[in-house]
Amino acid sequence: MTLVGFGISGRPATLVALLAICGFTVTLRAQVKEHPIPQIVRKDGRYAIMVDGAPYLILGAQAHNSSGWPAMLPKVWPAIEALHANTLEIPIYWEQFEPKPGQFDYTVVDTIVTQAREHHVRLDLLWFGTWKNGSQHYMPEWMKAEPERYFHLTDKNGRPADSPSPFCTASQELDIRAFTAFMRHLKGFDAQRTVIIVQVENEPGTWGPVRDYSPAAQKLFDGPVPPAVLKAMGKPADAAATWQAAFGPEAEVNFHAWAVATYVGKVAAAGKAVYPLPLYANAALRDPIKPGAPGSYESGGPTDNVIAIWKVAAPALDVVSPDIYMDDPVAYLRILELYHRDDNPLFVPETSGGAHVSRFFFSALGLQAIGFSPFGLDYSNAPSVSLGATPAASGPPDLIAPTALNYRLIAPMMREIARLNFEGKLQAVAEEKGVPKTTLSFGKWNAVVSYGGGRTNRVPAGNAEPTGRALVAQLSDDQFLVAGYFCGVEFQPAQADKHRQFMRVDEGTYENGVFKFIRILNGDETDWGLNLHADPIVLRVSLGVY
Ligand code: DGJ
Repeated sequence: MTLVGFGISGRPATLVALLAICGFTVTLRAQVKEHPIPQIVRKDGRYAIMVDGAPYLILGAQAHNSSGWPAMLPKVWPAIEALHANTLEIPIYWEQFEPKPGQFDYTVVDTIVTQAREHHVRLDLLWFGTWKNGSQHYMPEWMKAEPERYFHLTDKNGRPADSPSPFCTASQELDIRAFTAFMRHLKGFDAQRTVIIVQVENEPGTWGPVRDYSPAAQKLFDGPVPPAVLKAMGKPADAAATWQAAFGPEAEVNFHAWAVATYVGKVAAAGKAVYPLPLYANAALRDPIKPGAPGSYESGGPTDNVIAIWKVAAPALDVVSPDIYMDDPVAYLRILELYHRDDNPLFVPETSGGAHVSRFFFSALGLQAIGFSPFGLDYSNAPSVSLGATPAASGPPDLIAPTALNYRLIAPMMREIARLNFEGKLQAVAEEKGVPKTTLSFGKWNAVVSYGGGRTNRVPAGNAEPTGRALVAQLSDDQFLVAGYFCGVEFQPAQADKHRQFMRVDEGTYENGVFKFIRILNGDETDWGLNLHADPIVLRVSLGVY
């Protein structure tokens, strides 16, 4: 362009432009090569989220609901840093994104993405669209002003409920338009792939009414069940002419799940068509041990009983995920199992951040989780005690420390952990009260994880509070990586007539993905097995037999 300014003919300018275009093309190619679009892949029945071409583990933290505004971000980044999190989950509000019909405001999303890059953090952006916790509270104001057009669902008494109707095509078309604009913008703005995954809606479904009882919805409810739904739910193709006949007491909740999933699936598919990032939907859960009747939990979302319906009605979603706000360890672990399926990678996008549940991050790792993300971890002072935090002796509860304990250990070796897990070489567990010992089997070796055995590990009684957690990964036939807290790990040959001997136990820490040797452990430090306390220590253990 400067050449043109000097009055030289168009030719050099064309050359310059061409060079510029070529340069741009080369840069773009390099970016695409270095930063392919993140995707979720499956191999040998295991899943990984691939980021920059390799398995990645989302060490996440979700910001409070109203922290996604530029003025709030200074309260977010310091928490993410203190947590050692590598991924921030933060909302994008439809009401902000589309302040006037068809006019999109990209400034907030650009600010978040730009600042995330400055803080070397990836993003999981949460599309607060038609549904947020079962309601339509994040619809733009101009939509809320027209409830006849963008209508709510109708309850049993014929009154509108505080929940959008999944049969409102006017709202659906607008959500599709806005979400597509958002995804298209990300595609152009984010060649670096700072955004690695997107949540479509938030806890979609309905609290209170189990389904939409409007005349139009009733007509569909009294009609045939789509064959794909029958098949997914294990019913014969000729099961029944109506939902009620096919599913009995579960008919209404299944119907609503199908309706909501179909709507969300269309929004997801439209966004994915313009920019194929991994997409997921999150569920407000039902009790996995004693599930109440439909109506006692949020209806329509991907609760464990209707995951199969979501899978067929919303195939553009890569994952359906549990938001786990449960204190009972049995229930917590059951939820992890229910969402770790052959057709669904385990991803926990929300959970309480309290000390009493932070060890379950290891349980999730043990089920090949691709990510884990406690909720409400920023410094915006929103109340958190109700979310399961353990109150500190004085002052507000410290929600940061329990998650930081996990992440500071795992973050520097995140890529290796993700790879080993994807390859099926890693096992991880968390302590359960009354279970002082767990054995992990690695073929010719068993790793016995014990809790509360003191220095000698001989009579493990469990820790006073169940805080233990461990991961063991097989690096080669006789070499293991061991990490965790508040536990002992003993290796035993599976062959009963053999004895284990340590060839060498290296203690170290990871720094930026590289194991930094500190010392060889021997003598008192290994004579009673391996002990992990409160330090973020990693052991590389070489074993032999005699
Ligand atoms: C689950 C929702 O998905 C979050 O947005 C938030 O509302 C939490 N519950 C807790 O407040």
